[in-house]
This record gives sequence, C-alpha cells and structure tokens, in this order.
Amino acid sequence: MRGLDICDEMLQVARKNSKKKYLKIKFIRGDIRNFKLKRKAQVIWARGSIGDMLTLTDVKRALKNIKNNLLKNGIFIFDVRDYLYHLKLLKKRNRETRVFKKRNKNLTFSFVQDLNKKTRVATVKTEVTVKSPQSLVRFKINHALKHYTKKELAKLLHAAGFDILEIMPGYELAKENKPRILVIAKR
Ligand SMILES: C[S@@+](CC[C@H](N)C(=O)[O-])C[C@H]1O[C@@H](n2cnc3c(N)ncnc32)[C@H](O)[C@@H]1O
Repeated sequence: MRGLDICDEMLQVARKNSKKKYLKIKFIRGDIRNFKLKRKAQVIWARGSIGDMLTLTDVKRALKNIKNNLLKNGIFIFDVRDYLYHLKLLKKRNRETRVFKKRNKNLTFSFVQDLNKKTRVATVKTEVTVKSPQSLVRFKINHALKHYTKKELAKLLHAAGFDILEIMPGYELAKENKPRILVIAKR
C-alpha cells in the first residue's frame, strides 16, 4: 500500500499514525495532479484531497492523472464537500466554535466560512487557541475548499473517462461531522 500527500508535515503524521496501527504503508511525497506509480493500482482512494483543487483545470488534471495510475477496471474512491448542503448550512450560520480537551490542554477552533457561489470555493478562516496551565498560544489558519453537486461530479468523471458506480451524499469524514459526497468510480 502507498500513501501520497503533497505536504511533508501531513506525511509525518500519517507515518506516525500508521506505525501506531502496525500498518505497512509506504508514504511518498507527490502531487495528485502529476504523480506516477511504478506499478498501476487496483484501488486509489483520495480521502479529503480532491476538494483542495480549487480550479476546474486542476481537478480535471487530478482526475485524468489518477485514471492513468489505475489498472483497467481499477476503482477510484473520493469524497468532496456537498455544495447544496453547505450553501444551506452557511445561510443559517457561517461561524462555528469547537472545543477539545487533550491531556492538560484546551484547544478551541473558531471557524468563519464564506462560500463563493460562482467558483463554489469556500474560504475557511480558523483561529486556534491552545490553553494550558502554563501558556496560551493563538494562531490563524486560512484554507480554501471547492464544493460540488452530484451533477457536476458526474460530468467531470465522465469527461475524464470513468464509469460511475456510486455518487452518494451523506458520507462523513472522521471528526468533521458534516456530510460529504462519496464517489466510487471505475476506470
Ligand atoms: C483533508 S486532508 C486529508 C488528509 C488525509 N488524506 C486523510 O484522509 O486524513 C487533505 C490532504 O490533501 C493534501 N493535498 C492537497 N492538495 C494535494 C495535491 N495536489 N496532491 C497531493 N495531496 C494534496 C493536503 O496536503 C492534505 O493533507
């Protein structure tokens, strides 16, 4: 099994997590838009990463490249944020605060989101506060994510040459607590 990410820090976390679970995975740094596996894969699972492609050009490149790295009849699984669900949600509230406790630390995440109806890209501004008996640290992270409808996904997958097996809204990525669209396609 191979694990691929563009970000070294994320690869470090993934290595640590897989070691804890005794999983034998080789992690490599790469870009889903242009990686090339030595041996084509039976299954490719892009968990949470397709939404990081902010332009249609990048999404199309990623889909085409993933298809080229799959064996014939190989399966591609991925998930993206559901545009219609988030549009409704953000109309009600575009701010959210979540608090976690980890050992003797209190972590507070305050999110503010803005969804662009034309590009379907949401900008997520997060302020993180880490409070422990000894210290208080506060920092900001900005992130952007592209959202999709079922119809749009079907069009993109067909254009890339995939057969669609399932496009299922209602999938939840661990800890995120917001339904996404899960897609299963075949080369
Ligand atoms: C929501 S996180 C999911 C991380 C991990 N796959 C998981 O399931 O926990 C999205 C990941 O996509 C990665 N990513 C974004 N653009 C990428 C690209 N062009 N190529 C490879 N990875 C990318 C980010 O670095 C980030 O780690």
